Order: sequence, then C-alpha cells, then structure tokens
Amino acid sequence: MATRIVEKSSCVQMLDLKAEYGLMRERIRAVVDEVLESQHHIGGPAIAKLEEAIAKRIGVEHAIAISSGTDALLCALMAIEVGPGDEVIVPSFTFFATAGVVHRLGASPKFVDIDPGTFNIDPRGIEAAISKRTKAIMPVHLFGQCADMKAINTIAKKHGVRVIEDAAQAIGAKQDGRHAGTFGDLACLSFYPTKNLGGFGEGGMILTNNEKLGTLCKQLRTHGESTRYHHERVGGNFRLDTMKAAILLVKLDYLDEFTRRRRHNAARYDELLGKVQSSKFEIQRKEATGQQGNEAIRQQGDALSTPFVASGNVHVYHQYSILCDRRDELAAYLRDRGIGTGVYYPVPLHLQKCFTHLGYKPGSLPITEQSCTRILSLPCHPMLTEDDLQNVASCIAEFHK
Ligand SMILES: Cc1ncc(COP(=O)(O)O)c(C=O)c1O
Repeated sequence: MATRIVEKSSCVQMLDLKAEYGLMRERIRAVVDEVLESQHHIGGPAIAKLEEAIAKRIGVEHAIAISSGTDALLCALMAIEVGPGDEVIVPSFTFFATAGVVHRLGASPKFVDIDPGTFNIDPRGIEAAISKRTKAIMPVHLFGQCADMKAINTIAKKHGVRVIEDAAQAIGAKQDGRHAGTFGDLACLSFYPTKNLGGFGEGGMILTNNEKLGTLCKQLRTHGESTRYHHERVGGNFRLDTMKAAILLVKLDYLDEFTRRRRHNAARYDELLGKVQSSKFEIQRKEATGQQGNEAIRQQGDALSTPFVASGNVHVYHQYSILCDRRDELAAYLRDRGIGTGVYYPVPLHLQKCFTHLGYKPGSLPITEQSCTRILSLPCHPMLTEDDLQNVASCIAEFHK
C-alpha cells in the first residue's frame, strides 16, 4: 500500500496538549509566577486548595495529594499493610503500575480476566480468585469507565477484604450517580500529563472517606512521620510539588468542559463508526443489555466494535477504544493518513517477563489476551474538531471497504 503524503493541517493527533495550554496560558503563567515569587515549593496553600477542591468535586472526606498515580497506589497499599505472603486481586488488562506496586511490597498480584464489554475486571473471576491470602481487590476503571463496583464491594464485604480503586484514568466518571473514587476503602488518581486532568509533570491523589486511613496516608506521604522527626512507621517521599498543585488548580477549571467534549467526540464516533459496522452487529447491539451485553457480539469476531457502556455508568473517555480485526494494519493505514492511534495494552500483565514466576501461561486469561490483539484507541481529546472526527471515521470506513 502506497504511503500518502499528509498535509500537516489534516493530521489528527492522539492528544494536543499545546492547544489545550493555549486556552489557559496566561492563567498558568500567573500562578507559576506566584509560586516563584513565594519560593514556597513544598506544601502550602496550593496543595490544601487542590485537595479540598477535588474532595468536594468527587464527594469524599479526604484527599491527599501525592507525587504520582503509581505512588498513590503504593501508599494506599502500604496504608492497608499489604506485605509478603499477601495477594491482591487485579486485572491483567491495565497499565503496569496496578500490579507493579503489589509486587514491590513483597505481595503477589492475582490476575483476573475482564468483562469483554467494559474491559474491566470481571466480578465472577474475582470470586473464584479469592483465597485465604487475599488482602485486597484493586479494580481499575479502565479508559474512563467504572468497574462493576456494586458486585465488587459485595464480594469484598463477604470475604472481609479491602477495595482500592485504581481511578487513574477515571476522574469524573460515575456509576449510579456516584463518582469513581467513592466506592473503595481508598482510591487513587493520576495527574500524568496525558490524563483527563493532566498536570505539568508527575502527580496523583489518594481519596478516602476513612479518617484513619486518610491520616495514615498523610503520614506515609512524609516518611511515616506522625510529628516532626517522629516515625511510627516507614513511609516514603510521596509529596506533590506546590507548583504542580497550583497549575492543576487552574486546569481543574477546564475539566468539566473537556469531559463534555470527550463525551461528545465519543458519541459522534459511535454514530459515524456505527455505519461501518455490519447490520448484524447493529441488531445485536440494540439487544445488548447489562455488563455482559457485548460478549456475544465480540465472539462473532466483528470487523469493528465501538465501546460498550454498562448501564448506570457515565464514561469519561480517557480513551475511546474500539476492537477490530487486522488492528495493526488499520493503525498503519491511519498513521499513513496522519491519524494517530494507541494500543492500550499490547501485552497483558500476567504474561510479562517479570511475572513469569507467578506461573501464568498463554490462554489463562483469554478475554484479556484477545483484547490485547484487537484493541485500538482513537483520538478523542477535547481539542478535536468535527472535521477531525469525520476524517478519522471515513478513513476507517475506507480501510474496511
Ligand atoms: C490504570 C493506571 N494505573 C496507574 C497509573 C499510574 O499513574 P502515574 O503514571 O501517574 O504514576 C496509570 C497511569 O499512567 C494508569 O493508567
């Protein structure tokens, strides 16, 4: 297939952070200047303000600003005393940090397959994976859609284990009217620059309604200090910088509008790509209900299927991820036409080399493994135009002709 010369103006990137920055440049420069003039770089009012603003928005009692999403997960697991001999149930179809932090504390990740519709951890698999060693369940709200928290919390309660939500990709997502981050004992956000609320550098946050756990996380954030130079336990340096908090406070003002645009883009893709799907797929899609709705559809091996949103969920489309045949060919075809895509994630965590000792073999989590070969994320960021969306959809239609 001949490579086309693409005009720069018709390129559609996965993200356009420069354009986003252009909307808020003056405000950000002003707060950066304020921090520079104050020469207050650790703690201070910007951290407290950010914690307060996010706690209020999400509806939790305590928010603790942390150095990254990964450190937030690590600190949360330290707070519930995960250690050697423990198991933490996690999905395998997620970013590495979800399982990496479990291993770093000497515990073992216990990988569970996903629901084929939502790509989130399948509660039926959790029930089967619970053992005497299970300390916690860590669902991930992948791509910006909540895992089935009602079912997960029921299982956790029945077996007396903790729930830590990995909400790194899901700020603003909701389930049955409640925000992601309000369901578990603790929840973690990431402010990595590409996230829906992306900072200028690394950043994260822990959320909880449990006062004891909140206090513990605050202590763990500063080497386990209870009072200055008195350490009841060993923590780390998990603090977020003041400058980053000040910038995040400005960016927070744009989050609702940016989320609205992401949801609009996703709805347009649903319409435009719906025309690409087979009529058989359309009929089945209409009949689909509940979390398992897409299972039958996906097993048909349709050429393309758009994201499924479980009933009761508000999806914030951190990624708009389709399943498709000939994924790598399609990605290359789009790249040749100036359209960026992403593969999240090409290798499941249970088959990563560093987890060989856990004994998982290919075929042990079939839906996860199949999704890794068929998933493709399309540009869905807030700065896309109607022309961009139509361009992406028509190139996908052209590929399928
Ligand atoms: C699902 C998930 N968990 C954890 C993380 C880790 O967050 P961070 O990159 O801020 O350390 C990320 C983001 O990168 C993520 O997508």
